[in-house]
Amino acid sequence: MIIWDEKFSVGVEKIDDQHQTFFELINKLESLTHETNFEERLPILLNEIVEYAALHFKTEEKMMEAVQYPDLEQHKIFHQRIKDDIYMECKRIVEREVHAMDIIWLYNYMLDWIKTHIIEEDLKYKPYFQK
Ligand SMILES: [Fe+2]
Repeated sequence: MIIWDEKFSVGVEKIDDQHQTFFELINKLESLTHETNFEERLPILLNEIVEYAALHFKTEEKMMEAVQYPDLEQHKIFHQRIKDDIYMECKRIVEREVHAMDIIWLYNYMLDWIKTHIIEEDLKYKPYFQK
């Protein structure tokens, strides 16, 4: 389970809230592996994750634009790349017979990108919201 804490705070309530929702969605992936009918529920959850990622990135980009964050274009490229990657991986997994191990793999994959992205990229815009 990933638990949100202050080290992930970008100093903007709306974005912190969305990151927390994202953590919850990723945790749901992990808990799904303990369910017997995970094959049926997985596509719904993955769809939710993909859609939430799109919504969240859009919100973040709009807010960065509002404070004229100078590296917005680069940040948008990272978002696009993450969106494409998650979509591809989710698609790849639902298109074949799903095993709990695949879900665990996807869970770790998503954990890894969200933590890295928040710590290494999102925190860079934090000072621009504190002016
Ligand atoms: Fe971001």
